[in-house]
Amino acid sequence: MRSFAPLVLSLLGATAAVSAAESAEDSNVVTLTQDTFNDFIKSHDLVLAEFFAPWCGHCKALGPKYEEAATELKAKDIPLVKVDCTLEEELCRTYEVDGYPTLKVFRGPDSHKPYGGARQTDSIVSYMTKQSMPAVSTVTEENLEEFKTLDKIVIIGYVASDDKASNKSFTAFAESQRDNYLFAASNDAALAKAEGVKQPSIVLYKDFDEKKAVYDGKLEDEDILKFVKSASTPLVGELGPETYSQYMAAGLPLAYIFAETAEERESFAAEFRPIAEKHRGDINIVTLDAKLFGAHASNLNLEPEKFPAFAIQETTKNAKYPYDQTKKLDAKEVGKFIKDVVDGKVEPSIKSEPVPETQEGPVTVVVGRSYQELVIDNEKDVLLEFYAPWCGHCKALAPKYDELAALYSDVAEFKEKVTIAKIDATANDVPDSITGFPTIKLYPAGDKGAPVEYEGSRSVEDLVSFVKENGKYKIDGLAEGTNKSEDGDASSASSTKAAETEAPSDESHDEL
Ligand SMILES: *[C@@H]1O[C@H](CO)[C@@H](O)[C@H](O)[C@H]1NC(C)=O
Ligand SMILES: *[C@@H]1O[C@H](CO)[C@@H](O)[C@H](O)[C@H]1NC(C)=O
Repeated sequence: MRSFAPLVLSLLGATAAVSAAESAEDSNVVTLTQDTFNDFIKSHDLVLAEFFAPWCGHCKALGPKYEEAATELKAKDIPLVKVDCTLEEELCRTYEVDGYPTLKVFRGPDSHKPYGGARQTDSIVSYMTKQSMPAVSTVTEENLEEFKTLDKIVIIGYVASDDKASNKSFTAFAESQRDNYLFAASNDAALAKAEGVKQPSIVLYKDFDEKKAVYDGKLEDEDILKFVKSASTPLVGELGPETYSQYMAAGLPLAYIFAETAEERESFAAEFRPIAEKHRGDINIVTLDAKLFGAHASNLNLEPEKFPAFAIQETTKNAKYPYDQTKKLDAKEVGKFIKDVVDGKVEPSIKSEPVPETQEGPVTVVVGRSYQELVIDNEKDVLLEFYAPWCGHCKALAPKYDELAALYSDVAEFKEKVTIAKIDATANDVPDSITGFPTIKLYPAGDKGAPVEYEGSRSVEDLVSFVKENGKYKIDGLAEGTNKSEDGDASSASSTKAAETEAPSDESHDEL
């Protein structure tokens, strides 16, 4: 364990001499080339490098945030650099850059790893600060208070000097989580006492909620991680680009409070804190800026633009529970609603187009309310296309898909066993998580819980083979007895190349 004292000195004071090359164009981000890269990386202990292309949209979005982070990290002597891969092809090949932007953390030219934080100013600063510290710093009476302020969350282990086992467990845990949290330890019994904890204990200090959470359970990785995750999640946090993936990964239902002003969000957060406390570990509650992310409301089956609003989403099942928007957002009433949802007493809302009275074409039209009946609760092999009305690839597929469906619907014995269906996934809720359009899945009879996603080319022939191979009944739609046209798409060359899909770019949670 190294002492963190010299590092704090460099964090707080020393700014390294800035060479002319480094301050080009008034930017704190250093532009490097094949000729300058190695020398620069060698002469700095820790560097964050961005490999980019000038035309790349995500790179442009990162630009100002990267610049801001560079300015903040300059004071800590952690340089941020960038390499234009359209000019420095060889350099980018050396570091196996295969997408833009690629961010890598360098400790000398031979030691680098992918940057693991969010592409936001604060995240970059916090992540790189952690990288600059040892996995476990040492705290003393003198530097404890200062250490607590180094990040939003810091974790300190109080371990007796002769307790080798606890020291080892805590150190191992810190090593495994060093990208995510700032760690320190102390074996000073008096310091532990002054902090009101016994040895061994782990204390998580945070700049929100109750400021401090103590763990004195078993020092097992899994148990410590559970404590750290729960204690580091704010009771009522703010949902935004930096926190979105963390909340999604938590695997808990997420309750959204949409409000338009910061004052409103703050006052809702205060009102809902006791409720969040009561349901800690069962549900996460967040506030959300309705001015920026209001469009997300419609994904939760809320009426957009009617704020404040409240909804719960079971992220793992994509089940939605919007709260009646004609009612006032009273914490007590909403608290009851939250409890009922957590207790499984509320039916999820299902967005659905009306169920068609008759099926007109060969392709069966499925909607949110008929999904269970037509796709799941039956003894047929069901091929289902998830499409979006605006998706060009879906439009191109439509005539072939009709043709495919006719192969089965025109033959009575096939029709009994195979359904070719489609659903507009923008207008209907489906339990499946869909990441591109069109998505085509086969739900085999007798095994509907394990649908097979189609990844081949979008030719009628290949789709027929897919249904035959993966369906329970092994029906070959092109077999004798069917009436297929000899020209056109049905006989188009088959290829194993996966077809492209279109991202659901109109969904606001993409931007979160
Ligand atoms: C933990 O063990 C390491 C290595 O033996 C030692 O340097 C460090 O001071 C110990 N930490 C505590 C808090 O006792
Ligand atoms: C195929 O279609 C033609 C014309 O559409 C029809 O006359 C013929 O009977 C059909 N054959 C079968 C086997 O269904």
